Amino acid sequence: MGRRAWPGGTGLGRQREPAVTVEVHVRPGDAQRALRSEVLAGLCGESRPRELSPKWLYDERGSRLFDEITRLPEYYPTRREREILLAHAGDVARASGADTLVELGSGSSEKTRLLLDALRRTGRLSRFVPFDVSEAFLRRAAEAVAREYPGLHVHAVVGDFERHLGRLPRGGRRLVAFLGGTIGNLKPAGRARFYAELASGMEPGEGLLLGTDLLKSRERLFAAYNDGAGVTAAFNRNVLNVLNRELGADFEPEAFEHLAPFDEENGWVEMRLISTRPQAVRLPVLERYVNFAEGEVLRTEVSCKFHPEQVEAELSAAGLRLVELWTDAAGDFALSLALKR
Ligand code: AVJ
Repeated sequence: MGRRAWPGGTGLGRQREPAVTVEVHVRPGDAQRALRSEVLAGLCGESRPRELSPKWLYDERGSRLFDEITRLPEYYPTRREREILLAHAGDVARASGADTLVELGSGSSEKTRLLLDALRRTGRLSRFVPFDVSEAFLRRAAEAVAREYPGLHVHAVVGDFERHLGRLPRGGRRLVAFLGGTIGNLKPAGRARFYAELASGMEPGEGLLLGTDLLKSRERLFAAYNDGAGVTAAFNRNVLNVLNRELGADFEPEAFEHLAPFDEENGWVEMRLISTRPQAVRLPVLERYVNFAEGEVLRTEVSCKFHPEQVEAELSAAGLRLVELWTDAAGDFALSLALKR
């Protein structure tokens, strides 16, 4: 491969700076403020079950535990999605015709590289836009990709995919990848908002590559979210450590049990923390107490499972036309490519 100059550079320097720009849309303190208002509404308020959004699961320890989850024998989604990408990244690159890969969340994974490699083989790849809430994580990921793909312009965007989709850089022909099944964390109304906001910022012909977990037997779903080694339980309980650290709360994680049943009616697996006894928890930063009855549930995540027709219908409602839906050999997981009409 030939040497290429960094955009705006001479290409002659021996120690060239990686071609990374970082655009930040979250201010320090945003996360703290959002956590406080969510805890007031979802934990202290009237909502039953009490509920927190899954984004609070991913502090440093939570992110490490999630990484461990992706390697558990019972947890199939990561492996299945990788299998689909290994088989079809080339098809994705061709059918999208993209010169820009936007990746919502992650941005450092093996899957990112599979897509970048496939796009590079079409000869059109010029830009990578990783988008994530964690600035530190994003910088590391962006710089690593810039080193591995000389000549690629890496434009990282720090933002929240429920608030800042409108800030994604325009131009070129973009393919937006939202992988891993993270879309399943949004309930139907949230998904409709997400698709509509994303589509409203897309030009006709630009693409969305979407990973969705598919409906399957409740036994397999249960096993995937209630693993034998207890990693998912530790991941779930860790959110209580986050509340202790960020809000000075005095949760005892051992006084809550992990359970993640499949809710047939809603078509989602939900992670619950169940109070093993009556207890009062102090939230000094909010000057509140929360009382938990024995057996009371705190919901920390929903993970929706889909039928392919449902994916197609939801995308279509937002003006995104499904062009392909690939599954792994076992039919566990789907990767959909949709183009803006
Ligand atoms: C990262 C949202 C796709 O729902 O399967 C894994 C998170 N929660 N085990 C999922 C998760 C419990 C995961 N997503």
